[in-house]
Amino acid sequence: MKRIVSSLCLVLGVAISVATPEEMERLHRVAELKPSSKLLKAECMTCHTDVPLHNPFGRDVRSAIKSSERAGVDAEIWTRLASIDSDQDGWSNGEEVRLDTLPGDPGDHPAESRSRKETQTDARISVGLDQVIPKHSLHPVVIHFPIALFLFGVAFDLIGARKKDSGLRTTGWWGLLLGTISTAVAIPTGVAALLRSGYQWTGPALSHALFAATATALMISTTLWRRKGEIQSKTYFALLLVAALAVALAGHFGGQLVYGN
Ligand code: HEC
Repeated sequence: MKRIVSSLCLVLGVAISVATPEEMERLHRVAELKPSSKLLKAECMTCHTDVPLHNPFGRDVRSAIKSSERAGVDAEIWTRLASIDSDQDGWSNGEEVRLDTLPGDPGDHPAESRSRKETQTDARISVGLDQVIPKHSLHPVVIHFPIALFLFGVAFDLIGARKKDSGLRTTGWWGLLLGTISTAVAIPTGVAALLRSGYQWTGPALSHALFAATATALMISTTLWRRKGEIQSKTYFALLLVAALAVALAGHFGGQLVYGN
């Protein structure tokens, strides 16, 4: 009886001390674990659920050893193991060992690690921004102010000049002035919309941007000129009409961007 027990002990002892803790030590060496690491404390549970049953990482360790016909875990096998995610928690075995979590336990992973957490926060911030301010940055909404005010101003200034009606011209002047001032809101939202929506600088987006830039320059110059009084110059009226045309075309190509065609 004593001999049976002692030989059982021997068999068990050999099985435990030779066959497997060896894998543990090999892994510890190859993965360069720190003495304080969780993996070292987990010991056999790094690869086993209940010795000799394996957890997902242990199963991958076993099949990696078997398929390589190597004696056990070595640098090459570890390289291969490091790139896969045995417990399917979204973190590769390599990342988990490096960040000191258990590669065979899906409930244990570095979700709270700094880098991943920061990425998640960044994602949340940009999702938040898109919810608060849509990608078009309200440009299609606010752009109606400069267009309407300026075209209204051009019409009144022209009619007023024709009818020699100072009141109409003054109304026109306010249209030109407020329309031009409101480009200060419309242009930055337009630039933001182009950048945030990821438009390519071709086709309607390019035409829109070019006409918008031209229109803005013409709006500013005609308004500055008109500021000097009730201008009668033909060049002024011609410039005013060109400005109105540029505004209308910028709006037209802008509409194509928003509503398609
Ligand atoms: C790095 C992973 C790993 C660690 C850590 C590990 N084992 Fe294993 N263990 C294995 C693998 C792989 C096998 C399967 C070997 C085979 O099938 O050839 C195994 C098999 C075993 C077996 C079955 C006997 C056999 O040869 O099939 C026992 C018992 C065992 N391990 C005990 C332990 C104990 C006790 C510890 C902790 C001191 C431990 N293992 C730590 C990977 C590990």
